[in-house]
Formats: sequence, C-alpha cells, structure tokens
Amino acid sequence: MSNLAVIGAQWGDEGKGKIVDLVSLHFDIVARYQGGHNAGHTVVIEGKSYILQLIPSGMFRGGKVGVIGNGVVIEPSALLAEMHKMENSGFSFEGRLHISDRAHLILPHHRWREQETEKTQKIGTTLRGIGPTYEDKAARKGYRISDLMQPDFRQRLESLYGDRADASEFISRTEEFRVKLAQYVCNCSSFLAEAIRQGKRLLFEGAQGTMLDVDHGTYPFVTSSSCAAGGISTGLGIGPKYIHRVLGVSKAYATRVGSGPFPSELQNEIGDTIRNRGREFGSITGRPRRCGWLDLVGLKYAAQINGMDAVCITKLDILDVFDEISVCIEYELDGERIQEFPASFQAVERIHPVWRTFPGWKCNTFALRKLNDLPVKARKYLDFVEEFIQVPVAMISTSPERDDTIFYPAFDTLS
Ligand code: IMO
Ligand code: MG
Repeated sequence: MSNLAVIGAQWGDEGKGKIVDLVSLHFDIVARYQGGHNAGHTVVIEGKSYILQLIPSGMFRGGKVGVIGNGVVIEPSALLAEMHKMENSGFSFEGRLHISDRAHLILPHHRWREQETEKTQKIGTTLRGIGPTYEDKAARKGYRISDLMQPDFRQRLESLYGDRADASEFISRTEEFRVKLAQYVCNCSSFLAEAIRQGKRLLFEGAQGTMLDVDHGTYPFVTSSSCAAGGISTGLGIGPKYIHRVLGVSKAYATRVGSGPFPSELQNEIGDTIRNRGREFGSITGRPRRCGWLDLVGLKYAAQINGMDAVCITKLDILDVFDEISVCIEYELDGERIQEFPASFQAVERIHPVWRTFPGWKCNTFALRKLNDLPVKARKYLDFVEEFIQVPVAMISTSPERDDTIFYPAFDTLS
C-alpha cells in the first residue's frame, strides 16, 4: 500500500491539478501540505473545468476525502468562496473535508503588508498575503484556525485593527467563518494517523514547485513555503516514513511567472509561440508567463531535492510545431561550465545555458493516449530527458483532459 506525492518540478504551473485528479482514482485521501490560494490547479470533470486553489484536486471522484494540512495558509473568505462554487456545481463537502486546526490564517494585514513590500522588493508575488502569513508564523505571532474557532476571535481582531475601515468587512464575517468551517476543523495529524492505521492510501498534492521552494528554489524569488517533498511531513504532521513514492511533474518546456532568474528563458519568437500555443497566462492572476526550453539541470536538481521516483511530462503537444527543440544540459557561468544550480541568484542571472538540440517531430501529439502512437522523434526527446535526470518517465500528458495521457511502464512502480 503506497502513498504518493505529486510535486511540481519547476516554477509551478506544471499541470499538477490534472495529474492529481487522474491518479486520485488509486487513493482514498488527497492532502495539501503547503501554500495557499496562490495555487491554481485546473481539473476537468465531465467536460467542465474548475480552478482549485485551496481545495485538494482529485477529491471530486466519488468517496474521496480532502485534507488541508497545518502547513497550508488559509484565507477563510477565499476558502468559503471556493467551497461555495463547488457546492453550486453539485459537490458536497459533508464528511469529506478536513481542515487542520493548526493551519495559519491569512488576515487582512498580511495582504496590506505584502502590497507595501512588493513596491520595493518586487518578487512579483500573487499578492494574496502568503509570504507575510508565513513570516508571522515563524515569528510566533500568527493566528491559526484554532483561534478563529474561539468565541473571542472577533474581539481580538477588533483590537488588532482598531477602526481601520478596510478590515471591517472581514471582521464582520468572523462569526460566519467560524460557523461554516467549524464542522471541518480537526487535528489532521490524528485524522491521518488513524487513516494510515486503517490502511487508507494517501495522495500528497504539492502546490507551486521545487524552484519556488523557500529553501531550495531561486531564493529570494520563491514562495514562502516548503513546496518540495520535504514539506509533506511537517505540513501534515505525519512521519516521513509514510511518504513512499514521489512523482515529479514537469512541462515539456519551462515557464515562470513573476520575477527571478530563469536560465533557459527565450525572449524571442520561440518563447512567444510556446506562450500562445500553451496558453501560458496565469490561471489566477492572468499574467503572461515567461517561457523557455526545458532546463534539464533544473529538473535533475528537482529530482535530487525530492527524491523523485518518476517524472510526468505535461504539455508535450505544445512542442509539435517546432523544427528544432532544445534542452539546457549545462550552464556556463563566468566562462566555466557548471552542472549545478548556484545558490546565489546574482550568479544564476549571469548563467548562459548550454543547449542540446533535437529535431522536432512536426506532427500532432495532441490527445494521444498510446505510447506506440508517439512519434519516434518525440520518444527520443523523452528518452534523453529520462537518461539525463536518471529518473524514469511514468506519464505523458497530451491535453488537459483526464484521459489524454500516455502511461509508461514506470507508472506501475508508483503503486
Ligand atoms: P501552482 O500551485 C506558479 C509564484 C509567484 C511569485 C512567487 C511568490 O498553481 O503551480 P507568492 O504569492 O507565493 O508569495 O509568490 O511564486 N507562484 C506561483 N507560480 N504557480 C503557482 O502555483 C504559484 N504560486 C506562487 O508568481 O513569483
Ligand atoms: Mg498556477
């Protein structure tokens, strides 16, 4: 009985939502362990597409249970709005959602603070208050779901905000938040421990990606949580021995939204073609994403950080039109060749990618479902990826639709 982590291996937006939803079939519980409503996970259910931010993807297959762990930061009005939207589409959360009493709350002052710091620091954040909430958590002055559940929480907010008009709407809703969320709140660590005892299978859903991880990403141009597999244990209150397998998700090319180094970025016609074909605009913010070729140095690094057992490559079909397709296999830094991601972002900004170029397959791979139908040149490209990063390919996604997916034999090693 294996549990599986699905983790972004790049800078987010790798298509984790579809993959989590697809593999959730084999699991009982889907758990988010970090991040907040900065995530935008798209799932297509019966032809209708939903963007999930806090609600675990894949809990909409009959009988699945969702967990929002202590490592997640929760803006209660965003959570309720998201739940409301799903309920309007006919989904019910009753008995199926568990929210950690230890998860931190994103409050109005977190958003205000971020609006101020972004004026000078310019990380290009989603302005959702994510960073300041994690700051306050580490500084031991945060507020948690368990505080929201206390009857005096409204008074605490009133004394915190005084008569600031822009907090009044939030304050006026505290009772509503408490009443509507109370039935879902629990100690999720205990809930998961019991589920493990009963032999239930857990699926861990990462948000953002390894290159946005606060420790291992392109610091300071990162999010403020541990997106990589290491965050699962602290973000859910389970022992690391229950994280059995790790599936990394990477696009067949690379994108990044917001500021920060991006060695394989293409600020040219090729980048524009990838953006347009791949519809690379933020699912939440609408911002155009920066685009480039796949960075295998980065992907190999992500394989190392997460202990990836297999990789899923998404959006392969976007590359169908190119005469040639390149991947970055080394960096050149100040005249020297390096094979590792430098820690200093100033150094990363001075990097020049060393490319390896492949002939494009120049035919349609959109919506393919069989390994044998993949063009030989696409197979060669994927074989190179797997050999370079020393991690087998388990799946290829060829459209946003759940079933437009090609399974490699390595998929069977994940269960
Ligand atoms: P999913 O889960 C892509 C980026 C922001 C910014 C940086 C910090 O959909 O893959 P934050 O608001 O988190 O403090 O912003 O991280 N970012 C994402 N980029 N996908 C995401 O989520 C992201 N969540 C945050 O653009 O550069
Ligand atoms: Mg996203």
